[in-house]
Amino acid sequence: MQSFIQYTPTEIVFGPGVESQTAQLVKKHGGTKVLVVYGTGSIEKSGLLGKITDQLASEGIPHLMHGGATPNPHLSFARAGVKAAIAFGVDFILAIGGGSAIDAAKAVAHGTKNPEIDIWKFWLREEPLTKSLPIGVVLTISAAGSETSNSAVLTNTEEGLKRGLNTDFNRPAFAIMNPELTYTLPRFQISCGITDIMMHTLDRYFSPEANEGKVNEMTDEIAESLLRVVIKNGPLVLQNPEDYQAQSEIMWCGSLSHNGICGLGRTMDFSVHQLGHELGGSFDVAHGASLTTMWGSWARYCLDVNPARFARYARKVWGVTQNDDYTAAKEGIEKTVEYFKSIDMPTCFTELGIGIQSDEVLEQLSYSCVHFGKRLVGSFKPLKKEDIFAIYKAANK
Ligand code: NZQ
Ligand code: ZN
Repeated sequence: MQSFIQYTPTEIVFGPGVESQTAQLVKKHGGTKVLVVYGTGSIEKSGLLGKITDQLASEGIPHLMHGGATPNPHLSFARAGVKAAIAFGVDFILAIGGGSAIDAAKAVAHGTKNPEIDIWKFWLREEPLTKSLPIGVVLTISAAGSETSNSAVLTNTEEGLKRGLNTDFNRPAFAIMNPELTYTLPRFQISCGITDIMMHTLDRYFSPEANEGKVNEMTDEIAESLLRVVIKNGPLVLQNPEDYQAQSEIMWCGSLSHNGICGLGRTMDFSVHQLGHELGGSFDVAHGASLTTMWGSWARYCLDVNPARFARYARKVWGVTQNDDYTAAKEGIEKTVEYFKSIDMPTCFTELGIGIQSDEVLEQLSYSCVHFGKRLVGSFKPLKKEDIFAIYKAANK
């Protein structure tokens, strides 16, 4: 077995009605003055925001609101949050919502604890992050896994750049997970969530260790069963968003897919995420949709790196019975793409709604994806700019 570090410090409180424990958990984790970070209106409409601020008030916890985190949260929103949090003197950040509110909250936590440093420098790796404030989460969508992950993704709209920062300071102190809070999700967001959860698992499953035969069997089995559970329950929640059992399974898979357990002992690939982030930064498309747009093209391009790995995925996750690895692998890839289509997710640029792009735009996306010549992308097959161009080109239809 390959060596690993597993660090998942987040206290998870899961079940119906658990959001009633929010103020107590803030106190338990040291919060005495709180900035509440949230999105663009869904929690006001559902009444969740009011319920939580009432709790904070009745526990005597002063709090300030910072609403308006958009999908692909903007650096400018996070910077404004830092300013407000410092002025109010907060010692705790509470996020209510999905990946966008949570990631913005993480950025505010880092900026508030480091007032002398502009937060974007952490995302550009120009400054090391050595301290932050604690963050709590009330989750309203099963998707990004940010409620337990070590990651936070921001979009710098001035530069058209979407960038992630991985650090254990991004691990929330607690996450409140009530699947009932997801009942109000629009169908498209449910599908985006299902596919993002699959991608967090697949972007770890296809790893260089797998190519060298250094596989952690338990890690593989966890990943494969998680994928099967998501694939089975996805259509059930789309059919009936108030199916508590199915929503619960999806919500828990969302955290497990991205808290690290699906990647123990291996190097993460995440090239599909990087390809998708470029689309998010340039076209402001939903994260899950950017991933399904790219996965089929990436998989077909990388199949030859390790057909046996794709074949294992096909057999264990999709029940493919072909004996020949190459044939099984191809069938697994096409079954995945068909599944995306069956839940109304895009699998190419026109389905994503951005239209056919010129080679010049594909060049720009590819160059930005390799951080302007500073890196290769991914580890299963480390991708050069030319590889990335070819993958974008295949999705450009
Ligand atoms: O703006 P609000 O009102 O919150 O509405 C949101 C938004 O329009 C809505 N929504 C959320 N919960 C709802 C709801 N609508 C009705 N009822 C509810 N219960 O859904 C829309 C999407 O919300 P968002 O927070 O953007 O979704 P998601 O969780 O998919 O987050 C996406 C962001 O997370 C980043 C993505 O890149 C993207 O910026 N990611 C963060 C990761 C991490 N920190 O670990 C990992 C991921 O790979 C991902 O990159
Ligand atoms: Zn993702």
